[in-house]
Amino acid sequence: MIRERIEELRRLLDYHNHKYYVENAPEISDFEFDTLMHELQRLEAEHPEYADPNSPSVRVGSDLCAEFRTVRHRYAMLSLGNTYSLEELHEFLDRIEREAGPTDYVCELKFDGTAISLTYEEGQLVQALTRGDGVEGDDVTANVRTIRSVPLRLRGEGWPALFEIRGEILMPYASFDRLNAEREANGEPLFANPRNAAAGTLKQQASAVVARRGLDCTLYQLAGDNLPFTTHWESLAKAREWGFKVSEHMRICHDTAQIDEFIAYWDEARRQLPFPTDGVVIKVNDFAVRRQLGFTAKAPKWAVAYKFKAEQALTRLESISFQVGRTGAVTPVANLEPVLLAGTTVRRATLHNAEQMALLDIRPGDMVYVEKGGEIIPKITGVELAQRPADSLPFRYIDRCPECGTPLVRYEGEAKHYCPNQSGCRPQIIGRMLHFIRRKAMDIEGLGEETVELLYDNGLVHDISDLYDLQAGQLAPLPRLGEKSADNIIRSIRRSTEVPFRRVLFGLGIRFVGETTAKYLAEHFRSLDAVMAASREELVEADEVGEKIADAIREYFADAENLRIIGRLRQAGLQFEEAARELASEALAGRSFVVSGRFTRSRDEMKELIELHGGRNLAAVSGNVDYLVAGEKMGPAKLKKAEKLGIRILSEEEFLRMVGEADAPSERISQTGLPEERPEPAAPTAGPRPQEGAAPASGSAREQELF
Ligand code: IVH
Repeated sequence: MIRERIEELRRLLDYHNHKYYVENAPEISDFEFDTLMHELQRLEAEHPEYADPNSPSVRVGSDLCAEFRTVRHRYAMLSLGNTYSLEELHEFLDRIEREAGPTDYVCELKFDGTAISLTYEEGQLVQALTRGDGVEGDDVTANVRTIRSVPLRLRGEGWPALFEIRGEILMPYASFDRLNAEREANGEPLFANPRNAAAGTLKQQASAVVARRGLDCTLYQLAGDNLPFTTHWESLAKAREWGFKVSEHMRICHDTAQIDEFIAYWDEARRQLPFPTDGVVIKVNDFAVRRQLGFTAKAPKWAVAYKFKAEQALTRLESISFQVGRTGAVTPVANLEPVLLAGTTVRRATLHNAEQMALLDIRPGDMVYVEKGGEIIPKITGVELAQRPADSLPFRYIDRCPECGTPLVRYEGEAKHYCPNQSGCRPQIIGRMLHFIRRKAMDIEGLGEETVELLYDNGLVHDISDLYDLQAGQLAPLPRLGEKSADNIIRSIRRSTEVPFRRVLFGLGIRFVGETTAKYLAEHFRSLDAVMAASREELVEADEVGEKIADAIREYFADAENLRIIGRLRQAGLQFEEAARELASEALAGRSFVVSGRFTRSRDEMKELIELHGGRNLAAVSGNVDYLVAGEKMGPAKLKKAEKLGIRILSEEEFLRMVGEADAPSERISQTGLPEERPEPAAPTAGPRPQEGAAPASGSAREQELF
């Protein structure tokens, strides 16, 4: 019965996933989808004996850091010859015709992501490898399983018992913009383009992070022994029937003219696509002709990529200015004589950092090449030295903050310069304040950038804590405000004292502590005092907190000025504790636990259970500990110490029995029994499904968001 229901739910969820992510034609609401997913997760948690690595519930990923095994490709992953010139393309086609006679071609888009090879056995996804060096790739199966458009089990019938299918992992512009906006808000370096973001994400060690980043996967090539097809077109049509996402933007071309037409069309139309492309791939359709043509050492002789030229313009660099962000990072910006590029007028471009500028030897007054490839922010790719003014001098990078004059510093491993004057540098203070009032943080309405600048410049606020002393009477006389807006602002500030602790923690603007990390920290430590008191070792115990983040947190709370501000925020009545929750039972009241190792649930979930039943979590094994809940792969030293101290050691199962978990099943899934070397951890619950590929992002809109 239960087994049948689990199977039915998996079938239903696979079906709706495909409708949503592959066909872009959902039939049920997100809520209905989530309800089915929760039911499946609950049943899977109750019945680990029915675990399946390809269950749709694995799409949420896990928090475990994976090591990527290197695996040899069954069929080498070759590259493609490429050209930027139609003339060369025509020569290529002529050569084929000379050798094989007239033949049909399939023209496809060249997707600008990172190549992937998926292996299916008996209709089940068993492996996903990156291209690597073409001979060996990295095993990124756990990450790829979280990509919703990759079918875990195939639909229909007639697929070969064993085959590979290759394609591109892409990051749609919408996901890319969201990711970079998030990274910017957290003071993390931005990804230069969606391709880097896709490749970087795929190599992420925690698949739960991959799951959230909204990757997509388009397939364009089958590989296998004795595949039952005679043409490429036919093979892709079948792949589509089996549930793969295969581009609709393909065409069979009988001659050069049709190929040129396809290229000309997409060189323009690609701007409307929601994901990046950088050319067209032209492939011989007939497999027999392909075999006849064969390969060179590196690439097939039956296919070639025609690459679109990145759009370039030449313009004058009028001046170089410097932006200081809320973290103090200094970004050099090129101010350009306005120039039309890919449909938008470009006035500014990032120069990244001092090193990049030195590499280009860029100087004000130079004529520079501006390019807009897959990148959102235009970049300067070169200097036209022939047009350099005779009296031009090398540019000397600034050594003081352009805003406050403080000497800049460079931290180890960082390319950027920083202004260390956190508490006295205007853009940093204003940037922090704007971050604090953001909708996702304190959600203070009525305060935009201009108003915050006004407040600061009029000496009404110096830091975020001053907001809580503001009176309507001080605001009303300011330009563009008036009594009504002043009242609204004050009311919104007062209301923000009710904002939950996790958002307050996010609002503080600690480096690298984004919305999600703040949530994990809040769930783990439950109060600001606990976060402040935590050691580095204790901090990294929270989900998603690594050493870099832990250090940033410690640094933040070591700063006297930050402590003063926190003291004032406390007085203002902000929420510094996670709301108390009702206990499920007192089963563990008065007892202390240490949870260590890996479990079928996440460690934080185990800890939550302890607190939910009145117990207390301790970080380290000591005489104060009553129980050690020992998972797999826990350190032997810890175990020994616990034994020596006479602490009772519990297995996961024994512990779950203590809290009667059979009666209160977890909503999270267990993934035991995977045919993999390492035990899989439990996954967090499914997040909302991102809406990818809805509206094509226009270049100008994206540019405006970042500048
Ligand atoms: S076919 C034997 N088709 O471009 C070569 N590749 O520059 C099989 N790419 O490594 C590749 N879109 O990552 C093919 N429609 C498409 C493609 C495509 C993007 C990538 C792929 C390949 C690279 C070669």
